[in-house]
Amino acid sequence: MFSEIRMRRLRSNENLRRLVRETQWSVDNLLYPIFVVPGSGVRQEIPSMPGIYKLSVDQVIREVQEVAEFRIPGVLLFGQPHTKDAKGSESYSDQGVVQQAVRAIKSQLLHVLVATDVCLCAYTTQGHCGLVDKNQIVNDATLEVLAKIATSHAHAGADLISPSDMMDGRVAAIRSSLDEQGFSNLPIMAYSAKFSSAFYGPFRDAQGSTPQFGDRRSYQLDPANGREALREIDLDISEGADIVMVKPALAYLDVIARAKEITDLPIAAYQVSGEYAMIKAAAEKQWLDEEKVMMESLQSIRRAGASIIITYFAKEAARLLTR
Ligand code: PBG
Repeated sequence: MFSEIRMRRLRSNENLRRLVRETQWSVDNLLYPIFVVPGSGVRQEIPSMPGIYKLSVDQVIREVQEVAEFRIPGVLLFGQPHTKDAKGSESYSDQGVVQQAVRAIKSQLLHVLVATDVCLCAYTTQGHCGLVDKNQIVNDATLEVLAKIATSHAHAGADLISPSDMMDGRVAAIRSSLDEQGFSNLPIMAYSAKFSSAFYGPFRDAQGSTPQFGDRRSYQLDPANGREALREIDLDISEGADIVMVKPALAYLDVIARAKEITDLPIAAYQVSGEYAMIKAAAEKQWLDEEKVMMESLQSIRRAGASIIITYFAKEAARLLTR
């Protein structure tokens, strides 16, 4: 005779299951990434990310209107320059596409939070997240540029600054520049535990941000290192981060769960391009049920401890969550 504990009792019907369900999540947890490119009338689908488009500023407005209709709380903007150069100088230009998009969204009074990605990789000819000298990615000189990007986004009207470069000391550098220029109330969502991951492949194709030499392992985390990820998170908190992020999500759920134990700060998790592409590709072949796998993977990210889930599925998930 086995024990009298019968776990199946509480699973016997949907109302019971609803009552004992541990993980709750909603459209409130979602943040939607948008790729902004130069030009007008541009709406170009990214081949490895079906349903996701590169959009010129005029098209971004339409997209953000849709996001607002879904009651998704915010968008995360990624930009591309008209021309790349060695120093990525268009990244902090007043006329950059991100700066223009932020101003355009704000002038339409759309009730959507606008977060901006702060990084150099799409803006430099060498495709690295920092400045390069003699084939080395230089840390401290990069910080000055990152701070310039962040303040230019702030002047344009951004609501949340999100550095993704993984240089040491960037949160402190950005925080002090923002404070100096009167943006002491502007929060920073730091990509704190960003791993050197092959899951970024489709994003790099979309952004043209594949490194032209070497790889990102001298600044992004080794996928083997969970403890080091927690140190990165600790450091970003001490430098003034308001939200810490783990990225990618699904292959790093343990890091999200451990981060939750060491901090009371909100945790964001980024379900990256490769995670999206895998689900889309399998669904296209009818090997997986797209809706179910999407919802299950998003729920798992929430269960691990993230309160903000950055996902290309945000609109599709919102459609299901609000019907
Ligand atoms: C740029 C950046 C990357 C992503 C977000 N910001 C790519 C990278 O580090 O190469 C990946 C996002 C995705 O794959 O969806 N620093």
